[in-house]
Amino acid sequence: MCGIFAYLNYLTPKSRKEILELLVGGLKRLEYRGYDSAGVALDSSDGKDIAIIKKQGKVKALEEEIFQNSALDFDSSIKSHVGIAHTRWATHGVPSEVNSHPQRSDIEHSFVVVHNGIITNYKDIKILLQNRGYNFESETDTEIIAKLIHHLWVQHPNYAFRELVEQVVQQLEGAFALCFKSKHFPDECVATRRGSPLLVGIKTKTTLATDHVPILYGKDDLPSTVKESEATTKEHRPHRRSADYPIMPRSESTSEFQPLEDKEVEYFFASDASAVIEHTNRVIFLEDDDVAAVKDGALSIHRLRRCVDDAHAREIHTLKMQIQQIMKGNYEYFMQKEIFEQPESVVNTMRGRLNFRDNSVRLGGIKDYIPEIKRCRRLMLIGCGTSYHSAIATRQLLEELTELPVMVELASDFLDRNTPVFRDDVCFFISQSGETADTLMALRYCKTRGALIVGITNTVGSSICRESHCGVHINAGPEIGVASTKAYTSQFISLVMFALVMSEDRISLGTRRMNIIEGLKNLDNQIRQVLELDEKVKDLAKSLFQHKSLLIMGRGYNFATCMEGALKVKELTYMHSEGIMAGELKHGPLALVDDSMPVIMIVMRDPVYVKCMNALQQVTARDGRPIVICEEGDTETKSFAAKVLEIPKTVDCLQGVLTVIPMQLLSFHIAVLRGCNVDCPRNLAKSVTVE
Ligand code: AGP
Ligand code: GLU
Repeated sequence: MCGIFAYLNYLTPKSRKEILELLVGGLKRLEYRGYDSAGVALDSSDGKDIAIIKKQGKVKALEEEIFQNSALDFDSSIKSHVGIAHTRWATHGVPSEVNSHPQRSDIEHSFVVVHNGIITNYKDIKILLQNRGYNFESETDTEIIAKLIHHLWVQHPNYAFRELVEQVVQQLEGAFALCFKSKHFPDECVATRRGSPLLVGIKTKTTLATDHVPILYGKDDLPSTVKESEATTKEHRPHRRSADYPIMPRSESTSEFQPLEDKEVEYFFASDASAVIEHTNRVIFLEDDDVAAVKDGALSIHRLRRCVDDAHAREIHTLKMQIQQIMKGNYEYFMQKEIFEQPESVVNTMRGRLNFRDNSVRLGGIKDYIPEIKRCRRLMLIGCGTSYHSAIATRQLLEELTELPVMVELASDFLDRNTPVFRDDVCFFISQSGETADTLMALRYCKTRGALIVGITNTVGSSICRESHCGVHINAGPEIGVASTKAYTSQFISLVMFALVMSEDRISLGTRRMNIIEGLKNLDNQIRQVLELDEKVKDLAKSLFQHKSLLIMGRGYNFATCMEGALKVKELTYMHSEGIMAGELKHGPLALVDDSMPVIMIVMRDPVYVKCMNALQQVTARDGRPIVICEEGDTETKSFAAKVLEIPKTVDCLQGVLTVIPMQLLSFHIAVLRGCNVDCPRNLAKSVTVE
């Protein structure tokens, strides 16, 4: 999600204009990641305060705002300085100036911070800080970080900047990359990460004397068995972090700083290399829980505790890539990048909601409405295109775990039919963009009829988000390719989590729920495994791309994959494709099958396996030469296939998350082979805001 860029010049005089150009330039390089607002912080012209400039919308708008501001004194030269910058993709609080980053600790700007990711325990920390007299100005989860570091600094004025950050991150749960600047620690920058990417770029005039930076551990490095109470006092830790992060007391390791270079050095902190490559090709990729600090021009990397397999140093890599290559994170297309992001995006969807330690599921955005939802007459799931398919994919599980009637509707058709809707209906509106006109109009239609409106969107502050009574933000991160991929799998998982929440107190469903939770836990690794089929899928694409049509057949839990696969093929390759319910084969589509018609069949060992096998045999009996997507090691099914893609097994209702990935890859490769515009297919738009 979104981007961090920070620039520190030490004994390398730069005009304020140059510094601002560098910061804005860094943000421009990160624009491709998607964002809704941007901001920068640098020293004020008198050097006594921090100036923060933020703007909703494009980096260009921020740039204009900055360079129109004469108070910034562009020409003065600064020898040593830290500037931090950010592009935000809202997760908590609508896109707005006040919610943009940097977030500040107080009006005096003691500490400012930029953050990528989500702090899942921000509410508890916020309450604690409010009780200590802190007033919050934004709706973000990030603001608690700025206030918390201030709170710790007030309590421990002798702590080093880096130590304060170490204390802060021990309290945080969730995913984050953070970069801090402080009025009290001029020319120092501290950055850290857990779950979100962050690297440090180093630029020196002369060749670096070393190719690694040693990791420093606190002197009081404690074995992980030491009880938290022994290790720290309560006041250091207003909120408890999860148990797997033992607490490290304040160390005296300031003297351990190993200056990397003692003069004339520039550092860049960035979410990815695209933002630094034009300045330097020497970078360190930070690992989770590394705290990188620059003080007096020296970079040091700290860790709170030592693990058995820990490396002793972080290597300084020399990047050999070109800017163009890394803009899309090493992928040629956004769609491709987004397909390969799915192991991370599904985890982000579950983060802070599914607790694998006690197998509990909590959807903060709808929890207060659950009793009302449980009393409803029926659930209606409404969306368009891929979002509609995510509803098809999860309907069966929703019916099973909620025991409620579940209607799945295309928003346009739903409106055309003037579908009866009642006060005791619960209507889900599923939309990546949150702006799709058909879905939004269906929402308003249901709202005027008194139904409870639940939004399932990827875009905080979108119209659907704002107009819903409650909802789930799928947290898939920005999706730029017009073809929806990672949003689909995240919508899928959000709806599965909803089904789990609805059945929490059903003892008879206990085992089923446990199996699903176990399946969710392994999903990211299984997605990685499926993505390894990429080369094989590419070969398949080579055998298919000159055909005119492609039929995709399946049933049960995998029917949605057929529909979604066919939609992907149509929109990306302009080839005809149809998702066919295998049970309908003999009612018409079988007439299309012969030895030249490309057919893909999804046959999993689930409750409809035998029926799928019947369909498979009907196809082969008509000389069809099906490409079969089946479970790993299923030799029986494989024996009927002309070509096979083997997929790891998961619980039946999650299998669709895995079977859809080869279809995403296949449509992508066919599109490339046919010379189509992968990220912007003809005639289509990412956000369909007209009826
Ligand atoms: C998917 O690949 C399509 N681009 C399209 O079907 C899309 O899912 C549909 O327009 C709905 O968009 P939404 O999720 O933003 O509402
Ligand atoms: N969760 C933070 C917010 O909503 C940061 C989002 C981001 O990664 O940009 O402000």
